[in-house]
Amino acid sequence: MRVVRSVAAMQRIALDRRGKGSVGLVPTMGYLHAGHLQLVRAARKQSDYVVVSIFVNPIQFGPKEDFRRYPRDFARDRRLLQSAGVDVVFYPRVRDMYPEGFATFVEVERLGEGLCGKARPGHFRGVTTVVAKLLSVVLPDVAVFGAKDAQQAFVIRRMARDLGFHTRVIILPTVRERDGLAMSSRNVYLSPEQRAEAPALHRSLVLAQNLIRRGERRATIVKAAMRRLIQRESGGRIDYVEMVDTDELRPVKTIEGETLVALAVFFGKTRLIDNTTVKTPNPKL
Ligand code: PAF
Repeated sequence: MRVVRSVAAMQRIALDRRGKGSVGLVPTMGYLHAGHLQLVRAARKQSDYVVVSIFVNPIQFGPKEDFRRYPRDFARDRRLLQSAGVDVVFYPRVRDMYPEGFATFVEVERLGEGLCGKARPGHFRGVTTVVAKLLSVVLPDVAVFGAKDAQQAFVIRRMARDLGFHTRVIILPTVRERDGLAMSSRNVYLSPEQRAEAPALHRSLVLAQNLIRRGERRATIVKAAMRRLIQRESGGRIDYVEMVDTDELRPVKTIEGETLVALAVFFGKTRLIDNTTVKTPNPKL
């Protein structure tokens, strides 16, 4: 496994790989967990050559967010990726990804504005900009992302479609701890009490699924029930509980067709997100 630190060296490898089989990319910010390794396994299955990028992307963090304290452990990540059979770890420096005078940003309108975009203005612009750069540098045939960051996945998919990237964007289901908590590098921030309460988020999503399965179609009713469960079973402070369509990510009043149920909740300073997608028979079809 090669560790590549410069953009130029990564570009040379990507150009050299052309015509020698498919390339899969798993973009990450490191501090890998079982969810990331699942993405790596999928990339392995789908492609002949696997590149994993590790880059804590400063431009997707707000000024008051956790860029500096975001957990990092390259030695451990490297060991995990070596055992997972990865070919290249692309581990660029900030000044190489964003050299002096960097002035180009990629922004998907509308989709990045609601949900997490409200509390994190500029976040998705930072994500799409770095992912666009990674796709241009690595030239992957497939790129694999996790569904835990649902809005991110929708935004990236739209960007790839709108800008005509040749990369196929694959989104894999969220990997969960045994008690239902979605795996996230940020879970390490939780105190033991917060960690014990955090699975309430997943339980609220299961509650939403059950209510909808039993015929509830009013979003306000489902959202209120989810909020009550989170407030009863945890000390978390709700940022949002929302239900949106899976096309434009607009809030829905009536649950029909495919709907994304998404939430963000603060445990102290740590903001956790989770989601599920529900499908109902669409009476309009
Ligand atoms: O999901 C992440 O870890 C990041 O947002 C990503 C996609 C690697 C872009 O920095």
